[in-house]
Amino acid sequence: MTYENVIVEKDGPLAVVTLNRPQALNALSYALVKDLSLAMQELDGDAEVRVIIVTGGEKVFAAGADIKEMAERGPFDERLHERLHYRDLINKISKPVIAAVSGFALGGGCELAMSCDIIIASETARFGQPEVNLGIIPGSGGTQRLTRLVGKHRAMELILTGDIIGAADAERLGLVNRVVPVELFLEEAKSVAKKIAAKPPLAIKAAKEAVLKSANTSLDEGLEFERKSFYLLFASEDRAEGMKAFLEKRKAEFKGK
Ligand code: CAA
Repeated sequence: MTYENVIVEKDGPLAVVTLNRPQALNALSYALVKDLSLAMQELDGDAEVRVIIVTGGEKVFAAGADIKEMAERGPFDERLHERLHYRDLINKISKPVIAAVSGFALGGGCELAMSCDIIIASETARFGQPEVNLGIIPGSGGTQRLTRLVGKHRAMELILTGDIIGAADAERLGLVNRVVPVELFLEEAKSVAKKIAAKPPLAIKAAKEAVLKSANTSLDEGLEFERKSFYLLFASEDRAEGMKAFLEKRKAEFKGK
């Protein structure tokens, strides 16, 4: 699989997708979003891959939607809608997705990180939703995801002022899982990914689905959903193997069945 705007590297059960438009600070153009979306869907369907890492490399994660491209769009422009369609598909990846963020993650870049399941940040990471400076608002989930992640007042301040915050503030607000030195951010993301990749994939998929469900349901509905997934996993071979291995005091060998 080769794409013009993203680099895909597979390493056993891990896949690293690197945004690759350094000349535009990885601005999320139509072509980049399409490539990212197609690459991630391909990896989601690849039986060898268990966890996907999304990064922009050391210098910049992504400076947001491509403003040069957006400046030429009208509200009924097919390309604008297609771009959002490809963008939405990224939210539907069933495997765990870890964002490894270094440098700017602004606008659509911050939204991309937030739609991942875990965020590992380097000390140089900087986050913000500066869309108001352009006369627009976040368009890929920023108002909703940031509010759910950090609370109404903090999200409101960031979105209304367009302020950019550093990695330490992002960690304090609970926007990122942790901050590590820049030379370690990708290694740290890989280390978390390896841990997850060693677990039974059906349970991981069900766990991700259940956690995400909590954003869209009442507690009662969420608990019901969790209970059904919990029982469903009793039908898996990995559940039998996991419990048998524990009782036999040996390491479980999971097959994803
Ligand atoms: N779109 C298109 N090009 C961009 C870009 C973007 N979002 N961000 C940076 N670039 C380009 C610049 O135009 C420049 O290109 P040229 O060399 O051809 O002029 C190149 O990347 C380097 O950028 P700067 O010279 O500006 O670099 P800097 O280090 O001085 O500043 C920055 C870095 C603070 C990130 C600044 O580039 C910036 O403010 N970028 C825009 C950030 C932004 O507003 N993002 C939100 C976009 S809207 C959005 O994302 C909507 C949505 O949710 C869907």
